[in-house]
Amino acid sequence: MQLGPKFAELKATIASSYPNFEANVTNAWAEILAESDKTTKTIKEQGTEYVPQVSFTDLPNLSEDEIEKIRRRGTVVIKDVVDDKQAAAWKDELKQFIQTNPSVQGVPADDPQFFELYWTKPQVEARSHPNLLAATVWLSNLYHFQDKESASKFEGVNVNVPLTYADRFRIRRGGFPWAFHPPHVDGGTIERWEDPTFRGCFREIFSGNWRAHDPYELEARLNARSSLYGRPNQSSIFRTFQGWLAMSEIAPTQGTLKVFPDVFLSNVYTILRPFFTPLVPVDSSEIFDPKNWKFDLSTSEFHGISPRDGGFLGPRPTPESHPNMRLEDTMVSVPKVKPGDAVFWHCDVVHAVESEHTGTGDSAVMYIPAVPLTPQNLQYVQSQKESFLKGQRPSDFPKGPDESGFVGVAGGADITSKEGLIAMGLESYSKN
Ligand SMILES: [Fe+2]
Repeated sequence: MQLGPKFAELKATIASSYPNFEANVTNAWAEILAESDKTTKTIKEQGTEYVPQVSFTDLPNLSEDEIEKIRRRGTVVIKDVVDDKQAAAWKDELKQFIQTNPSVQGVPADDPQFFELYWTKPQVEARSHPNLLAATVWLSNLYHFQDKESASKFEGVNVNVPLTYADRFRIRRGGFPWAFHPPHVDGGTIERWEDPTFRGCFREIFSGNWRAHDPYELEARLNARSSLYGRPNQSSIFRTFQGWLAMSEIAPTQGTLKVFPDVFLSNVYTILRPFFTPLVPVDSSEIFDPKNWKFDLSTSEFHGISPRDGGFLGPRPTPESHPNMRLEDTMVSVPKVKPGDAVFWHCDVVHAVESEHTGTGDSAVMYIPAVPLTPQNLQYVQSQKESFLKGQRPSDFPKGPDESGFVGVAGGADITSKEGLIAMGLESYSKN
């Protein structure tokens, strides 16, 4: 889809910002196609098993190899973060909450399974659970400043201090289809190219030195603007990883998460894709041959991005827009989880929700991401705290009725851990 002349100019601007752009990215594109051909075949072969699984208690003792797998694949199942019984009890309490408060809104509107609730006791307790916060700290520590010197320029950033981002939960009944979340990337659409700082996260890709791309570099992430158009429902904070905590057993095909399990490769491919046009049909068996692509600045298309609400939607890669990702075979379901297991995926990971749910039980999760202490994140947490204390929806989310009128909403007293209070901005963090 063409986005208008301004966006063809954006391509030209990017191209002129890097020396020898055409030659360098054309070389890179040939190498990326070969890498993609190889890796997507391996992902297809291994399927769900390609997604790393570790147990919460093993996090401090993982080998370099295991950590490297998690970094490259960008998704990890962390087992037994919370006691099974506790997580299952939270689901029962949430169901009770919905029964007690029948006016709770959700999606689909006539039979909600994804609920516009932020401040129930189970959610507040889960987000402040010390193990869950510890898991998010471990994940945020995969990020680093590329340049040790520059770390000192980022006052107030500490990946060892977790913050809370209040989001919602879903309890999806067995058999219930779900068409709302096809493959997509969260946190910034056209901004990935348009915002000069956000674009900086991908500078090695634009320079053609794509193998040096590091999705875990902090510098550019911290000031990247992921919402240039003021579209509603855009996260205004920096989440190192998105995540959810399972409250029920969920196996592949039972409404679980699907991911493209190579965040490095999906970044390099999707970022350069707008600069190339295929010369053969995208479903041709020759589509991996670099001879069948040409460098092209003439269009205003940023594949997978489309206009919406005065801003943009996406990236939403499809087999047509991103044929070399072999999405039909490489969007793998995460392994089976039990209540208390958590799944986390890097903020650039292409992910989706399974449209089918062939199980008979609930597929129930609370969305809880990893959010490190940064000045911007802290600012949001402070406004989120005010929403919490008033029982209102946090400012990043669709406007709607307060929760304060519901029976069973949490208060500050429901946060019992010190790290939970700090994460909510109810206590301030001090280095001592
Ligand atoms: Fe998402």
